[in-house]
Amino acid sequence: MRNATWKAASRAALALTGAGALAAGMAMVLVAPAAAGTTLGASAAEKGRYFGAAVAAYKLSDSAYTTILNREFNSVTPENEMKIDATEPQQGQFSYGQADQIVNHARSRGMSVRGHTLAWHSQQPGWMQNMSGSALRQAMLNHVTQVATHFRGQVVAWDVVNEAFADGSSGARRDSNLQRTGNDWIEAAFRAARAADSGAKLCYNDYNTDNWSHAKTQAVYAMVRDFKQRGVPIDCVGFQSHFNSGSPYPSNYRTTLSSFAALGVDVQITELDIEGASAATYRSVVEDCLAVARCNGVTVWGIRDSDSWRASQTPLLFTSGGAKKPAYDAVLAALNNGTTPTDPPTTPPPTTPPPGPGGCTAAVAVNQWTGGFVATVKVTAGSSAITSWTVTLTLPLGSTVTNAWNANRSGDTGTTNWTNVAYNGRVGAGQSTEFGFQANGTAGGLTPTCAAG
Ligand code: G3I
Repeated sequence: MRNATWKAASRAALALTGAGALAAGMAMVLVAPAAAGTTLGASAAEKGRYFGAAVAAYKLSDSAYTTILNREFNSVTPENEMKIDATEPQQGQFSYGQADQIVNHARSRGMSVRGHTLAWHSQQPGWMQNMSGSALRQAMLNHVTQVATHFRGQVVAWDVVNEAFADGSSGARRDSNLQRTGNDWIEAAFRAARAADSGAKLCYNDYNTDNWSHAKTQAVYAMVRDFKQRGVPIDCVGFQSHFNSGSPYPSNYRTTLSSFAALGVDVQITELDIEGASAATYRSVVEDCLAVARCNGVTVWGIRDSDSWRASQTPLLFTSGGAKKPAYDAVLAALNNGTTPTDPPTTPPPTTPPPGPGGCTAAVAVNQWTGGFVATVKVTAGSSAITSWTVTLTLPLGSTVTNAWNANRSGDTGTTNWTNVAYNGRVGAGQSTEFGFQANGTAGGLTPTCAAG
């Protein structure tokens, strides 16, 4: 399952659901699949992605709510019902009623389910809040094991650990009772989840990790890189992406997604909402996901504005009355027009005009750590649009490129040449695009040059 595309995964879920529902004697709900291009879920599926929503069990009796849910979405995340306080209200006594209700609603309609969340400092039941040390560590691991086992085969991805890093510039772990059980609590949770459900993708999920230059983003990135290097079982990173005036959509969001993906994990946008629901910003978020091959899909954190945890910010795709907002149209258009890096071009490549008077320039930003670095290179067109570009960059002795994204390269050491890939050669006058690479060694002062055409 972990290597299957989401399109294949949701087909498999539908088939499994049919068998399971019949075996259990449940009534099958047969819903004609929506035509591609007319709903969020169908359009996302055409791109090999899902489009999901956070769902509250108590709203499943609201037909205005379920009408939109069933029509538009092909993935569901229980908003609160799989959290620790809901699933283990008393130690050792598990309660799955509301979570099962959501899972059954989703799977009987061919929607996949994201599990949220197995280990978190927040929404702990009272008994857990009062625990510490090895007793808490054991209780946490038992919780992960029991819950992941209960939902085995029904959940395609788990937010195994949620929000374990501090905000601000420290790059430190968040202080919590779980953190105080030892720094290895996160990897212990991932190992327990893998042992309980080897078929689900295991994600680390957090907020304020959208801006590539922020310390929190870099700290999570370093943890994921370390986990991949040491074989800790992690498959994906969730970006909550709650955007508002204090924490706006960053222009380097695509760089963040592609940089994490280059570590060898999937990326998922897990709790999207945008204060004021700017259509342009929603569109950009979806385009960014479509531009990153390992971005599996997008989940919005609620359906109508009135369903949002931040209802007064009207951050979602449907009005409180259930009408589609301009942001909905923008998202659907982005899903229908978007291409993925692996898609063949839909139109013949344009003939290359002579280089415009402005040509292009390149600038590099480096994130260095002991023994390696990530370089993000920004290519900016001059006073005319360009249709292709080549960046030349000389690496210091001892530095070797290990992987790269959003560009083709020749050379791993010394003088390296980088050219655009199919989807980022065209850059409007004065506009920019970015590519990046990871390398061993020390970056030193990199001075890229750029040639257009
Ligand atoms: O169900 C009770 C109800 O019986 C009671 O009368 C009422 C009184 O306050 O509370 C109700 O529970 C509330 C629950 O939402 C259901 O509406 C809780 O108080 C409230 O704390 C809880 O808030 C949830 C929040 O997580 C808690 O941290 C939000 O719904 C949920 O959207 C939000 O989701 C989180 C993600 O899990 C992680 N990322 C951030 C995101 C937004 O905060």
